[in-house]
Amino acid sequence: MSELTLLKHIDNPDAPQIEIYEKSGGYQGLRRVLKDFTPDEVIDYVKKCNLRGRGGAGFPTGMKWSFVPKGDGKPHYLCCNADEGEPGTFKDRLLMERDPHQMIEGMVITAYATGCNTAYVYIRGEYGLSIRRVRDAVNAARARGYLGDNILGSGYSLEIHLHIGAGAYICGEETALLESIEGRRGMPKLKPPFPAVAGIYECPTVINNVETFACLPHIFRLGSDWFTSIGPADAPGPKLFALSGHLKQRGVFELPMSISLGALIEDYGHGALTGKLKAAIPGGVSAPMIPASGFDVGMDFSSLAAADSMLGSAGVIALDETSSIPVVARRITEFFSHESCGKCTPCREGLTWAAKILRRIEAGDGLPGDPDQLEMLCGGIFGNSFCALGDGAAWALAATLKHFRPEYDALITRKTATG
Ligand SMILES: Cc1cc2nc3c(=O)[nH]c(=O)nc-3n(C[C@H](O)[C@H](O)[C@H](O)COP(=O)(O)O)c2cc1C
Ligand code: SF4
Repeated sequence: MSELTLLKHIDNPDAPQIEIYEKSGGYQGLRRVLKDFTPDEVIDYVKKCNLRGRGGAGFPTGMKWSFVPKGDGKPHYLCCNADEGEPGTFKDRLLMERDPHQMIEGMVITAYATGCNTAYVYIRGEYGLSIRRVRDAVNAARARGYLGDNILGSGYSLEIHLHIGAGAYICGEETALLESIEGRRGMPKLKPPFPAVAGIYECPTVINNVETFACLPHIFRLGSDWFTSIGPADAPGPKLFALSGHLKQRGVFELPMSISLGALIEDYGHGALTGKLKAAIPGGVSAPMIPASGFDVGMDFSSLAAADSMLGSAGVIALDETSSIPVVARRITEFFSHESCGKCTPCREGLTWAAKILRRIEAGDGLPGDPDQLEMLCGGIFGNSFCALGDGAAWALAATLKHFRPEYDALITRKTATG
């Protein structure tokens, strides 16, 4: 196991307390930033580190911040995406429950760099303990002068508010999230304009994931050389992987992105619970599944893209030989169909019909042409949806057909769903 940073104090029950965080170097990164860096220098430093967003798309964080206009006279807003609704993903929860000041410190650093004086944490409503821990951490940080007016005597001020989500997966999509913060129904908005230019109340808004923020204090405390020495050059820094499914060991692991899917499963998941694995989903259920023959792939953004999948939220779900892939596909598609916001026809109608076909295949009433019909539906949804929910749903379903088409055909002929 490589040395831990993000999860270093995760087993210490006192780690959420600010005094314990401070003793282990907490808020030193922020002190350094406020003393030695201008906002532009912070952005340049994060660009130099090549920190890429941990929320799903892997977008370069410093570049995103540099899109925020300067001297525009408008208020700027910061938002932490703590919605974590993607099935198979539970890494942000661990950070918020067990060591929440990393995220808070990262938010203050980001807000300073991008000229924000108001920040929101959009936090999943089901995460009761995370909500309490983040609220306590915000209050403790304010009491110690890391938040509020004139932070550490720097003249810079920031307030953080919590916004509790109501259980809609689509509210993790950044424009829907901003709509929800403004009190409207969470539905994606057209981009451009991107939130960095026109977000909350049409003002420039920066949105990053919990883990992205949590990396920042360490970057400014330990330096860019430390960060870039970990993992591949185009995906540096520590990364959290959530392992679940048919594995002997499940949980959240901090590793460099140079690890392969196979090594992650064998060395950290300790292999299949029983028998052998058939496939794995590498990055939450919108990431196309990879059959066991492809487990040699690197768990980084570009290697997984080259393997027709994606790192996404890095929530790995392992499936053993007892899993029926058409049944897995039905469950995933039903989730997306249920969570579709209904705004655009390809996603709303296409996923409804795909789920219906998958249900009838599972019930033993499948027709010989159903797999082709599903492929056609995926083709109609992918690339024609208004936001990435529809694309992800279609891509994930299409991968099950691409890799496991004989299972669909056998189920339609045999009429029982077994592995
Ligand atoms: C349907 C959907 C759900 C999403 N859910 C989340 C989420 O729960 N948490 C998250 O950080 N990003 C989520 N994202 C990605 C965000 O839109 C956004 O890209 C991310 O928060 C940016 O942060 P980052 O640059 O730090 O990765 C979701 C995207 C889509 C399309
Ligand atoms: S793709 Fe689905 S979730 Fe996204 S806007 Fe269209 S209907 Fe809504």
